[in-house]
Amino acid sequence: MPILEVKELKAYYITEKYGRLYRVKAVDGVSFQVNKDEIYGIAGESGCGKSTLLKAVSGLLKPPLQVLEGEVIYNFGDDVLNILSLKDDKQRRQVRGARISHIPQGSMSVLNPVRRIKKAFQDLIRAHLGSMERSRFEEMVKKHLDALGLDWSIMQAFPHQLSGGMRQRLTIALATILKPDIIFADEPTTALDVVVQRGVVQLIKKIKKEQQNTLIMVTHDLAIHANLCDRLAIMYAGKIVEEADVDVIFNQPQHPYTLMLLKSLPKLGDKSIRVSAPGAPPSLIHTPSGCRFHPRCPEATAHCRRENPELLELEKGHRVACFLKGGC
Ligand SMILES: Nc1ncnc2c1ncn2[C@@H]1O[C@H](COP(=O)(O)OP(=O)(O)O)[C@@H](O)[C@H]1O
Ligand SMILES: [Mg+2]
Repeated sequence: MPILEVKELKAYYITEKYGRLYRVKAVDGVSFQVNKDEIYGIAGESGCGKSTLLKAVSGLLKPPLQVLEGEVIYNFGDDVLNILSLKDDKQRRQVRGARISHIPQGSMSVLNPVRRIKKAFQDLIRAHLGSMERSRFEEMVKKHLDALGLDWSIMQAFPHQLSGGMRQRLTIALATILKPDIIFADEPTTALDVVVQRGVVQLIKKIKKEQQNTLIMVTHDLAIHANLCDRLAIMYAGKIVEEADVDVIFNQPQHPYTLMLLKSLPKLGDKSIRVSAPGAPPSLIHTPSGCRFHPRCPEATAHCRRENPELLELEKGHRVACFLKGGC
């Protein structure tokens, strides 16, 4: 049984401007499953809907974001939960933090700039476990920080006194202190320099190993996916266009967009200029007809311009949405 099953999810930003309704189709019919204990990666250019997908899947639904269709089912073993059926944000908040947790891109969105770090831990723990004695709280946080190689003295600091890397480590510590079943990490390394990025990836790996949780890792950085993930989904314009084991994506990519992404990666010793993907991602308000990638696809046919290919299993565990690869 997968721990997470997402079925035909559609999540749009719906806004009204000057009397006209705008619908940004950020997640447009996405289905995937994540198995317990695995690291599932989601990659794709900026603006393709990765963050929106994580928000919708973890029930972080604030206007103008709305889920129009689909199901998101969690199977925690002792509890099966359809998070979108929880109408009340209070109920969803109880699930988030305890069973599902979110490591956001910018640490400052979870750390309050005018409050000491300790306060963020106190608030989170109180919200989920109720008030507890100071000694018990300190013991719990110290143990967790120790395991992550962080020092208790950081608790007294204000966020601005710490480096970006340290703040991100603390955000990770905060997101994992309640030992969630699933961790969603949204570009956790993007704002950091390469050396610090490495440390943060190692930290995420370490926690995952110790706590044995399931991790969903979103980043546009394919090198991080190669290093970390078991399986990888490639998103383009609100849809998953390819999904397979990470080695298969890197060694036998099938979708023309995946090929384009991989071609733009630098190779050691190769001094030729890398070709970046030509053209730009489409508007998610006025999406192209047929396959959304057809305006940039070197192999597009009339059929691709007309019809939208489904994400179909090409070989066991390898799904591709392309008419040129046997799609329909
Ligand atoms: N609050 C919002 N209102 C309207 N459109 C939004 C909002 N947030 C994001 N979008 C749009 O949704 C699309 C997907 O964004 P996002 O999920 O952040 O992509 P990614 O994480 O892959 O960079 C983009 O076109 C973005 O402009
Ligand atoms: Mg994003």
